[in-house]
Amino acid sequence: MEIIILPSKEDCAKLGGQLIFNLVKGNPECVLGLATGSTPVPLYEELIRLHKEDNLSFSNVTSFNLDEYIGLSKNHPCSYRYFMQEQLFNSVDINFNSTHVPNGLADDIQVECEAYEQSILDAGGIDLQILGIGSDGHIGFNEPCSSLSSRTRMKTLTGETIKDNARFFESENDVPRHCITMGVGTILDTKSVLLFAFGEGKSDVISKAIEGPISSMVPASALQLHPKVKVILDEPAASKLVNIDYYKEVYANRPSS
Ligand code: PGA
Repeated sequence: MEIIILPSKEDCAKLGGQLIFNLVKGNPECVLGLATGSTPVPLYEELIRLHKEDNLSFSNVTSFNLDEYIGLSKNHPCSYRYFMQEQLFNSVDINFNSTHVPNGLADDIQVECEAYEQSILDAGGIDLQILGIGSDGHIGFNEPCSSLSSRTRMKTLTGETIKDNARFFESENDVPRHCITMGVGTILDTKSVLLFAFGEGKSDVISKAIEGPISSMVPASALQLHPKVKVILDEPAASKLVNIDYYKEVYANRPSS
């Protein structure tokens, strides 16, 4: 894991934007794995800026989102399909048919999950996966105790996630209890990962995921097994890392590429 600590989330978003810019310029047909929640919002703003000001084109890019609530239509303002349209897709030149978000209204959820896994394979796998992290350690909606080799499937949200996500809904009761999420194994199969975390509220879980043992109780800790992960943190999110000085030294003295 490469741990990168920057002063602000805007700096983190700039770096993430640059890494995606380089990937898409080098391979315009790349496959991006996308995330929702508050964390990727500044990154998506930066990608829109790069599209408008620096000719970054997504016209041949394919995308797969991590997850979706079960029971919300794509037009529901709290669905993740709606979020992606609003936060990114409507403002760049990505082809709608090349964007994938699990269908939370599928008649047969199991069939939907298997088809989602197959579409990722058919696209040649995910070149770069963007991740946030839940305060309970989830990546995607892989809640504590998720199998570290799990694939796309239905999960039940924890009380903590329901509370965390209630801010997007009118009330906590409106948060769906179930979702479709790529599995931890699906995420480990991606070719590279950028995990972002911002704010003091994420500092405990970040220290567990990076410096604690690999455990299904902290699904993000499975990323320790992934060969190509950059963890991009603002100072507050990094504040509880034991080896913080070392990570800063490594990044400051990184070989030029
Ligand atoms: P957040 O959620 O970005 O809204 O904090 C992260 C997550 O649940 O993965």
